[in-house]
Formats: sequence, structure tokens, C-alpha cells
Amino acid sequence: MGVTIHDVAKAAGVSVASASRALSGRRKVTADVAERVSRAAAELGYQPNAVAKALRDQTTGTIGMIVPGIGNPFFTTMVEAVERRLQETGRDLLLCSSQYDPLIEARRLETLLSRRVDGLIISPCDIEASAPAVLSAAGRVPLVQLDRYIEAGGTDWVGLDDNAALAQAVEHVAAGGARTVVFAGSRLVNSSARLRLSGFQLATERAGLEARTPLLGEFTHEWGMQAGRLLLGDGPLPDAVICGNDEIAIGLIRALRLGGIRVPHEVMVVGMDDVGHAAMCDPPLTTVAQPVDEMAAEAVRLLEQVRLGRTRAIQRIAIAPRLVVRETSRQRTEGE
Ligand code: RIB
Repeated sequence: MGVTIHDVAKAAGVSVASASRALSGRRKVTADVAERVSRAAAELGYQPNAVAKALRDQTTGTIGMIVPGIGNPFFTTMVEAVERRLQETGRDLLLCSSQYDPLIEARRLETLLSRRVDGLIISPCDIEASAPAVLSAAGRVPLVQLDRYIEAGGTDWVGLDDNAALAQAVEHVAAGGARTVVFAGSRLVNSSARLRLSGFQLATERAGLEARTPLLGEFTHEWGMQAGRLLLGDGPLPDAVICGNDEIAIGLIRALRLGGIRVPHEVMVVGMDDVGHAAMCDPPLTTVAQPVDEMAAEAVRLLEQVRLGRTRAIQRIAIAPRLVVRETSRQRTEGE
């Protein structure tokens, strides 16, 4: 058996109750007691018993988070933003990846619930298949959906205003002289994929641009390369390609350049997310930035409200994007 609080109290020459108050920091002790207990705990190598603390406090001080894939820089950026916000409220993050698989996602939810997390933040990987497990978990602990959501809704959600994001991207290439555009995005299995395609269709209609058949695959470089090769083999190129995320845009630009196409002179390309390597791309990528820090702050705020039992209507908060113009698009010059 390791060092106990009784050992620490004996070594410090104080009662177990005083040692417990000094170590938990929950209630005041004199500076002398605090110093003696702190020194004894350090010298003995005392490790607080997290399980005992959880039973006593009815809280583990941890929040579970599940994202579709931690290999994607958007999700890692979002996780870091959430963790920073949780630290401000004295909570720790337990992170899982669903690996884009609803069955794995359901298992990870059960794992986190078995660890008695105080709440859950999830970006569901599948708009339909994720629903049963997400709604079941939401019935057991406070849960907020962040970034993606299930079609059934059912809980608070915070994410990007996708319609505004696609409107910014389409209006930008239209201002650069584009008349024919293509959307290269993800298959419609998640809310981000669906909202971006519909946002693109709405924006191109409003701008009077010719939208060609969308190219739908995955939010990956590989799919971007494949989409680029499809464009190269499919007759005249569009004036611009709007991509569902930066990974697709970077892969697509590489394929176009391997095919001898100059970006933006022959085809403009715009991405989405502005995390990771968009600015390091060659040429640097024009993209629509996601307000990840603001999204994370709202998600943690909403989760805390639910955890404190504040009854209110379900909140759905879509946060405004920000166009970041770099070098894969252009502005129409006078007289062009
Ligand atoms: O890059 C992954 C994409 O899917 C991001 O745009 C994010 O919104 C996620 O849903």
C-alpha cells in the first residue's frame, strides 16, 4: 500500500483532518500547517487517491472529448483549444478518437462514461449512425456537440457558420473573375460535409456562377489529389475550386501543378479551416478560418451551464468565419 494521508499527517505532526484540508486546498489552514503538510507529502512522495476523491466529491474533475480523427490538424487544434478552456475551470480532459467509425465512437463514449467524466464534448463522426450513442450518453451526463452534430440534434451545439463560410469563399472567387466553379468536399456522412455543399450551392446560385458537378470524397490530401486528377481529365478546367477543407485544397493544388496547371493564374483554389499548414502551402493557401478558440470557449461555457443544472432551451450557436486571402486566389484587375 502506498503512502497514505495518515502517514503524511503523522510526519507533519497534525491531525488527518488538517492534513486533508491542507492537501485539498478546499478549506483554510494556517501557513505553518500548510507548509509542514506540503513538506511531509513531498518527502514521502504522497499521491492523492483520485478514486477516493471522486467518491467524496461526486466529481472526477474530468471532461471526456471525442473527435473523429486526431491526425487531422483541425481536430488537434480544436482539442487544444478546449483543453486550455477546461484548465481555466480546473478540469482535465480525457481524449478519444472515433477513427471516423460510429461503432468505435460508441465504445469510446462508454469508456469515458465508465471513467465517471463530469461531462462530454463530441464532434460526432456520422450525422445519422452516431445518434443513438450520442443521445444515450446525453441522457447520462451533460453533453455538448462541437463542430459536427447529429441530425437528431438533441443537445447544445457550437460550430462554424458554414453558410457564411461558403458565401465568403464564393463571393471572393467571383470578385476575382470566376464564372465556373467546382466544390471538392467530403461524402455527405457528416454535418460539415452536408452544410458546406448546400452552402456552396446557395452561394453560387446567388452569385450567378456556373456550378459544375461536385467532387465528394474524404477530408484528406489523398482525396484532394484524386479530385485534382479528375478535373485534369474532365475537359476545360473551372475558373475556381472551393474545397471543403485545407487538406483537400493542398492535395488538389499538388495534382493541378503536377498536371502543369498554374494556381491561381489558370485556376483559383480556396480551402477551409486555416489550421496547420495552410500558410505554409506553396503557394500559400487562401482559406476560410474557423473561430476554433471561440467555439471551444462557447462549448465549455454551455457544458458548465448544463452541469450546474441550469434548465434552458437547447442552444445552437453558429460562429462567424473569417476569409484569409493569400496566394491561391486573386482579385480581378481593372479592365480584366
Ligand atoms: O478538416 C476536417 C473538417 O471536418 C473541418 O473543416 C471540421 O469542420 C470537421 O468537421
